[in-house]
Amino acid sequence: MSKKIVVITGSPRKNGNSFAMTEAFIKAAESNGHTVTRFDAAMKKTGGCHACETCYRTGKPCSFDDDFNTIAPAILEADAVVFTMPVYWYSIPAQIKGIIDKMFSFVVGGKDISGKECAVITCCEENDMSVMDGVRVPMERTASLLKWKMVGEVLIPGVLNVGDIEKTDGCKQAAELADKF
Ligand SMILES: Cc1cc2nc3c(=O)[nH]c(=O)nc-3n(C[C@H](O)[C@H](O)[C@H](O)COP(=O)(O)O)c2cc1C
Repeated sequence: MSKKIVVITGSPRKNGNSFAMTEAFIKAAESNGHTVTRFDAAMKKTGGCHACETCYRTGKPCSFDDDFNTIAPAILEADAVVFTMPVYWYSIPAQIKGIIDKMFSFVVGGKDISGKECAVITCCEENDMSVMDGVRVPMERTASLLKWKMVGEVLIPGVLNVGDIEKTDGCKQAAELADKF
């Protein structure tokens, strides 16, 4: 079945490791017949949640002038959402965290977004899988709260510089992730 997949990236490095995996995923997902819409958070204007709880009351998801307002309708329509990012300081990069935080607007706005599929693609410098817990665990718990099914996780340690991903099977794993949707 052809699905609508939204991909949200978090790296500011256009030729970096998580982008390479993202591109491998998208290529495979499209060749499997899915429609992919991609948002590069680092190239968007997205701030943090103001917790004003006025979401959707002014006719837009976030009451502030924020690029989340172009991303939210795509998430609402999607069958699946894939988050891709590097680890920054054992955690989720600020570039994508604002978008994740602003998904609170779906809760405040009473939008039913349950039943979607999701996945995570991440990488880090250190050669220790637990370094990625700071991305993996919050995304798993977010999925659980939203009643989304986590269909797969690509977690690649030991990549620092641009191009390092080519020394791993990260892009292969990212392409194989597409078969899980
Ligand atoms: C601001 C910043 C913080 C980082 N923090 C960590 C970290 O806590 N642990 C780690 O292993 N790597 C860390 N890294 C390294 C990146 O995760 C690594 O270089 C990754 O491959 C970058 O992915 P990208 O090429 O997709 O941007 C950090 C890099 C930056 C720029």
